[in-house]
Amino acid sequence: MVKPMMPNDNFIPELTDRAQLAADPHRPVFHFAPPANWLNDPNGLIHWDGTLHLFYQYNPNGPFHGTIHWGHASSQDLVYWRDHPVALAPTPGGPDAEGCWSGCAVDNNGTPTFVYTGVNPQTVCLAVSTDDLESWQKYAGNPVIAAPPPEIAAHSGHDFRDPYVWREGDAWWMVIGARREGVGGLVLLYRSANLTQWEFVRVLLAGDEQTSPFFYEGAMWECPNLLDFGERRALIISVQDAQWRLQHAGYFSGRYDNGAFTPDAGGVLVYGHSFYAPQATRLADGRILLFGWLRETRPQAAAQMAGWSGCMSLPLIVTLQPNGKLHLAPAPELETLRRDAWTLSDLPLAPHTQHRLEITGAALEIEVTFEADQLDDYGLAVCCSPDGAEQTRIVVKPEQGELWVEHIGADPALALPGERAPLTLTPAQPVRLRVFVDGSVLEIFADDGLCLTTRLYPQRADSQGVVLFTAGTPVDVRYASVWTLASVW
Ligand code: FRU
Repeated sequence: MVKPMMPNDNFIPELTDRAQLAADPHRPVFHFAPPANWLNDPNGLIHWDGTLHLFYQYNPNGPFHGTIHWGHASSQDLVYWRDHPVALAPTPGGPDAEGCWSGCAVDNNGTPTFVYTGVNPQTVCLAVSTDDLESWQKYAGNPVIAAPPPEIAAHSGHDFRDPYVWREGDAWWMVIGARREGVGGLVLLYRSANLTQWEFVRVLLAGDEQTSPFFYEGAMWECPNLLDFGERRALIISVQDAQWRLQHAGYFSGRYDNGAFTPDAGGVLVYGHSFYAPQATRLADGRILLFGWLRETRPQAAAQMAGWSGCMSLPLIVTLQPNGKLHLAPAPELETLRRDAWTLSDLPLAPHTQHRLEITGAALEIEVTFEADQLDDYGLAVCCSPDGAEQTRIVVKPEQGELWVEHIGADPALALPGERAPLTLTPAQPVRLRVFVDGSVLEIFADDGLCLTTRLYPQRADSQGVVLFTAGTPVDVRYASVWTLASVW
């Protein structure tokens, strides 16, 4: 029997005024950030009546993880955002009393429906909206899945969360994250006729912390997404290690037949310490759109002072390459944000020289193509102070076949980690980098499909320059373009 829905009895309609934090130079202006306070995973991504709705893990009580609600924003064009009232809040005495954790949104025959995680214990819950996704009522029969099957629950250490649901054939299907203690992460597959009664089908994929073929698989898999590319599918997961540290989002790709998945390729989705827990959805035009959570890499005390924590990645379009690798590219819609433009072409850089560009800014898009046929380092520095004392260097390392990000002159209290990622370099092939700088966010895309995302927290107001440099190698900067980007608020 289908039980009636209950009103959401802890509803918080208040929105914090974004203007209060607008002067913070570390606040991004073209990435989605919460009005204030804490944001983590994107949730409930859904394209509804021509509007994209983005929900997100939100703590209205401060810039730290706790009392998790679902925040809500929407966009007509993937670029400009509108805030909506909080969509879900914990219900005292309910299965989500300790938090409304991650989940997804589906169109159940015209009724927008959330399938989300209630805690604690971790369970699967439902909520629906009857007013165009503005307010949400929880299902009175929650939870709809109280625990994983006993043979899994016996070794899962109470980890069972982040349902991701899709419609296929005449059924609803769900993947959900779990683990086998001491062994590795699990993705469980369920099936349902009505979203309220679920049947466990099988373990779709089991990880092994010790022997990971494509990337470090860790101890627990969070936030699974199964993306349909026709012949093949891709399973994205987010990897937590045995000490509950967040590692990275990774993916497997391969054939999927009748609920059986056989991956034969995979990799890290985005390199760097910031990107985690992505969620994808299909747009009306068929493209697959994905956002990841960009977490802070500064100490918690610094976020507390700032009054906010976390933002979303750029809207990224996901495609599958013929070699089974996933490719991410910023949505072309972002080009509408370009304002002042500046270009150069065919600039030779002699060994051990640098070239400072004339354009500066805290919100920039940079496209640069380097040609070099020797093995020494070269690259570009962003957020560069006029004397170079503070800068973040994006370094192509041909000898290592890697891209490095190094923070120079950063405040030691921020303890910013350097980052590195593999870069496929073919001799005599130019290297093209596309770089977005936005306050404290740095997203780098390389031609070969590499993505590296990191955070940086410049301490000087004049750290806004862009510098091209080379070490021992003569480099030809074939082409460079820089745009200042407008704010989306
Ligand atoms: C991933 C995650 C999810 C969980 C949510 C809680 O970052 O830990 O597994 O549902 O965040 O906020």
